[in-house]
Amino acid sequence: MDLQLTGRRVLVTGASRGIGLEVVRAALAEGARVVATARRTTPELEATGATFVAADLATADGPRLLLEEVLEQDPHLDVLVNNAGGGSADPGSLADPVDGDDDTWADTLALNLLAAVRTTRAALPALLAARGAVVNVGSDSARRSMAAPLPYTAAKAALAAFSRGLAEKVGPRGVRVNTVSPGGTRTPLLVGPDGFGAQLAGALGVDHDALVAGMAQQNGMLTGELVDPAEIARTVLLLASPAMPSAIGQNWAVDAGSVKVA
Ligand SMILES: NC(=O)c1ccc[n+]([C@@H]2O[C@H](COP(=O)([O-])OP(=O)(O)OC[C@H]3O[C@@H](n4cnc5c(N)ncnc54)[C@H](OP(=O)(O)O)[C@@H]3O)[C@@H](O)[C@H]2O)c1
Repeated sequence: MDLQLTGRRVLVTGASRGIGLEVVRAALAEGARVVATARRTTPELEATGATFVAADLATADGPRLLLEEVLEQDPHLDVLVNNAGGGSADPGSLADPVDGDDDTWADTLALNLLAAVRTTRAALPALLAARGAVVNVGSDSARRSMAAPLPYTAAKAALAAFSRGLAEKVGPRGVRVNTVSPGGTRTPLLVGPDGFGAQLAGALGVDHDALVAGMAQQNGMLTGELVDPAEIARTVLLLASPAMPSAIGQNWAVDAGSVKVA
């Protein structure tokens, strides 16, 4: 299948590792021109040859400054992948009845919701001109109560609502907006020594490897395995593809059945 992404310009946030890195690799394999962003690059990202622009998207100005640089290099942009995200699971937050104080909530919302809102706002004139596409990376935890700390689940639920509403606003003008909601995925977020999974294991007082090994089953994933990030990347590219003109306003789960409602 030709995804018709050859020569298209794609901006991927959270591109230095995990799902974002796989989106970069998959987009390059389709012949796209890829701009990759994160706070810091990595050897793995450098090895792809994608153009890198550093940005902290959890700050109020980070997304605007990013797009200024990206569009100064080339005013054309076909696809925005809002993938940067993550959460924290420090013991102090998890001991709190609402999983964190105001700072925890504000930081989590800034990265998982506002970063996508602000990056989309800054990219939208170029995306409208190109009749392009936005793909937001949500999470199955938005639809599974008790799945993760509340600031993260609430932020991802809000991201899905933002994504669906934005699709209505810009769809008639030629920009398609969709969400991909992964289940537990084998990335540094879960398996890395400093990621959310390691923090959660520490907070719960359990072994990190054991937590990861049992996570798929614990989450009701019917494969019994965490998702390969390359599968999430394939879904992102399919939704970004001009070959899918009627895929608009959708929230595609790639979670091995972890969400137990229709
Ligand atoms: N892994 C899972 O199980 C899973 C499940 C459902 C949903 N998701 C979602 O999938 C997306 C990617 O997750 P992942 O598992 O690939 O995470 P990851 O391995 O932790 O990678 C996160 C990426 O986001 C970047 N990032 C983090 N904070 C940032 C900031 N303030 N500004 C700019 N970039 C920032 C990181 O680079 P720097 O640190 O250098 O900035 C990195 O490139 C996230 O939205 C996550 O919520 C993941």
